Amino acid sequence: MATTTETATGFDLALSEEQELAQRTARDFAREKVLPRAHDIDEQGKVPRELITEMASLGFLGIYAPESYGGAGLDALSYALVSEEINRACASTGVVMSSHVSLVVDPLLHYGSDAQKDRFLRPLATGAKLGCFALSEPASGSDAAAMRTSARRDGDGWVLNGTKNFITNGASADIAIVFAQMDPKARHRGIAAFIVEKGTPGFSVGKLEHKLGIRGSDTAQLNFQDCRVPAANLLGEAGAGFKIALSTLDGGRISIAAQAVGIARACLEDSLAYAKEREAFGKKIVEFQAIQWKLADMATEIDAARLLVWRAATLKDRGEDHILAAAQAKLFASDVAVRAARECVQIFGGYGYLTDFPAERHYRDAKITEIYEGTSEIMNLVIAEEILKE
Ligand code: CAA
Repeated sequence: MATTTETATGFDLALSEEQELAQRTARDFAREKVLPRAHDIDEQGKVPRELITEMASLGFLGIYAPESYGGAGLDALSYALVSEEINRACASTGVVMSSHVSLVVDPLLHYGSDAQKDRFLRPLATGAKLGCFALSEPASGSDAAAMRTSARRDGDGWVLNGTKNFITNGASADIAIVFAQMDPKARHRGIAAFIVEKGTPGFSVGKLEHKLGIRGSDTAQLNFQDCRVPAANLLGEAGAGFKIALSTLDGGRISIAAQAVGIARACLEDSLAYAKEREAFGKKIVEFQAIQWKLADMATEIDAARLLVWRAATLKDRGEDHILAAAQAKLFASDVAVRAARECVQIFGGYGYLTDFPAERHYRDAKITEIYEGTSEIMNLVIAEEILKE
């Protein structure tokens, strides 16, 4: 018999005490430490390292790594809750965390050998080191299997050559998960994943990108020129790299969906606060139905998006297939965030267009959620493929 907190598909919507604690801790931290800095982070184009260290000290950088590796040992749903809170305050800070957790800690946890976990997972989970995920290239984004960065076996190691693009945390990361092609004729079956440390000869950080939004997170080009990587740094099987990348992105898409919910919530909360203060035609603008309907739509869509995020995270926690659920959550939540940001600017009116107010930052930050970790068009493609299978 379903309880009142259970949906028809058997998902329990009641959070455990542990999950509520993670949510509360993140909410307090975001409100006290992140939100007051969000404007400066955007303006100065940098998330301060001490803020990242503070997030690490709360366990957020290793949120679902086991405690034996220095992590917090929580689940994917707790991570989604934390992501929403951090991103409600600052999307730049949110993506620094999620690129590290979803795209580096997670694949190491799932595909790393014991030796690799000892060496790399521990410092990443404690936040002593920061990670980045190097998949995209100048000429391959959505078509990830078309990558040109090459990996050539050479004695007891591998030699990497090529360029990676749009790499979040690319300049600040200490450890990169790098995907490279061993045999272009084999297409996705020729791809391998490598753990490459900063300072490895032949590995350098190239151009830093200037972005519309999430300006506090660094996005860099990474160059590999005869970069020698020891065989011990091959992550998973040679040839399994593409599946490692895509299964990693399935988890990443849940946290980007949570980021979108966080941004949309910021839009709703900031709009509500402003509409209750601002007067026009002799009354507070919140009293106008035109404003109320915008707020009602935002609130409803945010709740719906959050439910999709929780469902996808729950499936991941259960070890069940979450490809479809993650893509649906990301597709819907990013759309909700972009729409909420547009309405937020509209409610703020002229002030929405000024950098003195947060609305324009939300507007700029929201857009990326429709692009990175798989565009909305790729999400539609994944969803269609999954539902056609059934
Ligand atoms: N998990 C594991 N394996 C998967 C998978 C998944 N989610 N999806 C597909 N596969 C497997 C398939 O089963 C197939 O396996 P077999 O060889 O055994 O048959 C193999 O992968 C190839 O599948 P496809 O033929 O479907 O692959 P494709 O080349 O047509 O690509 C795609 C499919 C969905 C378009 C994929 O390329 C994709 O998701 N592209 C988007 C890439 C992306 O998200 N990039 C984001 C960059 S990272 C980023 O943005 C990070 C950041 O900065 C924050």
